[in-house]
Amino acid sequence: MKIAEFFARNAFSPDIDTDALLAEFDRQMDAGLAGGKSSLAMIPAYVDADRAVKTDTPINVLDAGGTNLRVATVRFDKAGKAKIEGLRKCAMPGTDGTSLSAEAFFDRIAEVLEPVAGNAKDVGFCFSYPTEITPALDGRLMRWTKQVDAPGVVGKMIGSGVAAAVKRRLGRKPAVRVLNDTVATLLAGKSVGISRQYASYVGFILGTGTNIAYIERNARIGKVKRLDRERTMVINIESGNFNGGPASAFDEAVDAATSDPGVGRFEKMISGRYMGDLGLVVLQRAAEAGLFSKRAAAGIAALAALTTKDFDDFVANPFTQGGAFDAVRFTDNDRRALLAICEPVFARAARLAAANIAAAVIRCGEGRDPLHPVCVTIDGSTYYRTRTGFFKSRVEQGLRDILGARGIHFETTFVEDAPVVGAAVAGLIAQEA
Ligand code: GLC
Repeated sequence: MKIAEFFARNAFSPDIDTDALLAEFDRQMDAGLAGGKSSLAMIPAYVDADRAVKTDTPINVLDAGGTNLRVATVRFDKAGKAKIEGLRKCAMPGTDGTSLSAEAFFDRIAEVLEPVAGNAKDVGFCFSYPTEITPALDGRLMRWTKQVDAPGVVGKMIGSGVAAAVKRRLGRKPAVRVLNDTVATLLAGKSVGISRQYASYVGFILGTGTNIAYIERNARIGKVKRLDRERTMVINIESGNFNGGPASAFDEAVDAATSDPGVGRFEKMISGRYMGDLGLVVLQRAAEAGLFSKRAAAGIAALAALTTKDFDDFVANPFTQGGAFDAVRFTDNDRRALLAICEPVFARAARLAAANIAAAVIRCGEGRDPLHPVCVTIDGSTYYRTRTGFFKSRVEQGLRDILGARGIHFETTFVEDAPVVGAAVAGLIAQEA
């Protein structure tokens, strides 16, 4: 069987109908803001990005990503530059194979916070999971993503849960303000980009999971009553759950094997938690279809798991040693087949990521004036570290194609430790309010 036929049989294509995808993103964004049926939760962050940040005031920060839990103390100097102290990280609770109760989960977070607790009164908590935020910046976990195993936490208030656990431990209850990592990244971009006079800001994450936040006019947020219609608010789209992507037979297989089938369909096509799983499915199906030599096919069939890093390393350089593929005996023709089969998986992910970012930039309605572009701050290991197929540059190319054709001006930026900086911004803005 030829590779083209193999892809067609599995309804896989690296090419996507970008216009249709953008239209579907926009339709579901509208529906989500109106409170209608949508795979996009469109969560109001209750952060007004226009507020000034208090300087010379320390704030503690927690950052629960997909893989790591980090803690630090942050303060902004008079010039608005963030100073991060005592940054430490450990594994995200609930990701080491043992299931945690809600109490154990919150206790673990309080334990991690303890060494810095004396540095500042309050906490900004960058919590990178779908969480409904209250006007006081507490947040109720809607569901876990990224395969975290702590089922009792679903439905609980995260900020109050951590505050109560800190109280049990230290006898003192901090205010814990919760925000999403995309919102934090957007705010971090704003805090360093202020002198450029951008028209608007977007925060995109492509790491263990994927998601994006942008600034919306309150007048368009129909599901929240009594908002000042003249102002704006940051919206966490939860785009990882978008269900309008081009699902192939490979994607169906990956989804079916997760703990949350049907959820996070877009994320399972492009993010670091799942790209390795996708690669393994594609390779094993290709081996079954006879696209590799017998010996290589047997080795591929015997692989029990594949991390995104091993997958990417090997497709970027099919002579890599020291990873999952050590056990597979490839001929050079097998290596050529591997490139032809796997590079399109990364190419598709790059196109989908570009479409996702473009959808948010188009939505914000700004960037017509070249003097005031839209600032897209990007964070996440998968975006910056994926080597195959010029990944990052391919996403940027996609953005130039899509947004350039529409006369929209934008810039991409990177802010060191954006989730930590942004959580500090949000925590300090809230303290002022
Ligand atoms: C997942 C989470 C989302 C987060 C994203 C990136 O999609 O649900 O809240 O922003 O990963 O970390």
